[in-house]
Amino acid sequence: MSSISGPEVPGVLCEQPARSVRGAHTEHRLIEGDNLAVMAALMPDLGGTIKLVYIDPPYNTGKNFTYGDKMGEGWSEMMHPRLVAAHQLLREDGAIVIHIDEHEVAQLTLMLDEIFGRENRLGTIVWDKGNPKGDAKAIAVQHESIVCFAKDKSQFHPLQQDKPNVEAMLDKAAALMKTMGRVMLPPDLAQAASRYRLPEFALGPHRRARTLGDINKAFGHWLKTQRSFRPGERAYAKIDTNGAVFQAVSMAWPNKKKAPDSYFIPLKHPTTGRACPVPQRGWRNPPATMDRLLAENRIVFGADETTQPRRKYFLSEVRTEGVPSILRDGSSDDRRLAKLGVPFDHPKPLSVATRIVRWFTHQSTDIVLDFFAGSGTTGHAVLAENRTRRAGLRFVLIQRAEVVGEKSAAQRAGFQTVIEMTHARLSRAIAQMDTEAEPCPNEDRGFIVERLQS
Ligand SMILES: C[S@@+](CC[C@H](N)C(=O)[O-])C[C@H]1O[C@@H](n2cnc3c(N)ncnc32)[C@H](O)[C@@H]1O
Repeated sequence: MSSISGPEVPGVLCEQPARSVRGAHTEHRLIEGDNLAVMAALMPDLGGTIKLVYIDPPYNTGKNFTYGDKMGEGWSEMMHPRLVAAHQLLREDGAIVIHIDEHEVAQLTLMLDEIFGRENRLGTIVWDKGNPKGDAKAIAVQHESIVCFAKDKSQFHPLQQDKPNVEAMLDKAAALMKTMGRVMLPPDLAQAASRYRLPEFALGPHRRARTLGDINKAFGHWLKTQRSFRPGERAYAKIDTNGAVFQAVSMAWPNKKKAPDSYFIPLKHPTTGRACPVPQRGWRNPPATMDRLLAENRIVFGADETTQPRRKYFLSEVRTEGVPSILRDGSSDDRRLAKLGVPFDHPKPLSVATRIVRWFTHQSTDIVLDFFAGSGTTGHAVLAENRTRRAGLRFVLIQRAEVVGEKSAAQRAGFQTVIEMTHARLSRAIAQMDTEAEPCPNEDRGFIVERLQS
């Protein structure tokens, strides 16, 4: 039990053991109460410790869902003190990530500029939901915004994500390398022959031991058929003698100003020993770097000295990339929640929430706070991410006991308040995870329930 003595909202957090799930063995928390008062109560213990505040506040659409979403002018007044409290709860290397739509995105960004400082903007992700709103008279909006600010940008970790197709490409290359020397049809002929039923006597004479050239051709054919791959990924289309996948990039001096004289030393072809052509404006790198690249087998030569050498960039060294400003995800979690028996209106998709949790947490014991918990998607995402990453991230969710809409699906399903839905979703998701594949040791699949009492 922790108490606060703030002048405005003194409150005490009381554990509710009967509602907790594996209460003795968990660090996750679900707290019932108004989020401003609860954050004040958390401040003595958690002030300056939260790595990620991830929230999805009411958008002020003027409609009512499972929860009320009609605040008019009062929206900013409601949000401002809560964002100030979030700022105080964040660690110096933490960040806040907020879902919002066109109704309040401008107002929200201005408020964050004031509280967090413009210099701490991390950017806004445009979440493309792929489905324009049907009732629009003006532009049919098909996106929402995810506004991201660091507490102190200079201390925030670099935002990176795994490139989606790298593993598949490396696996394919490794599989093809295993066919080296095997007696097979050359790739072009094999592809053409696959369209006809040709007798063995016609094909047989063409079979020969597979070379690296054949393997590269087969890899190129395969890449062409991978429609979901992006141009940047397709560029890694070559395999070298060691089986490493690479792209060959020009090593020409990039500036208009002429390169120094030492940047014009020709490279010798490794088999003919003759000088290869130097780019017109010289090399991009000084001689020492060129020597290192040569020694590390990072320069690719043509069949003879007539081809200008290029630099190799290995796919295995660029497994991650920056987080782009557009997130395409048209999924809906209505079915997932229906399966869990929790008919909450417009839950955020778990696929979006897990990505946010993955990108914006860094150490394996980071704390994630969501003080507009709704159906508990953020908690579910933390549980899922912990399993994927074998991590020990902790969630703190706050949700008030808001009465569900009159005659809503939630009411028909027997729920009286939103916090009951949060609890049901989390405990049922955990029950489901309990039955899934072997959990990792010490996986925290529980949560303590607390209630703010004033
Ligand atoms: C847009 S919903 C969040 C939905 C959630 N991201 C999900 O995926 O299910 C906003 C939630 O904030 C809750 N809420 C609004 N004002 C609150 C307050 N002052 N304190 C605590 N919860 C509040 C509402 O009851 C509602 O459940």
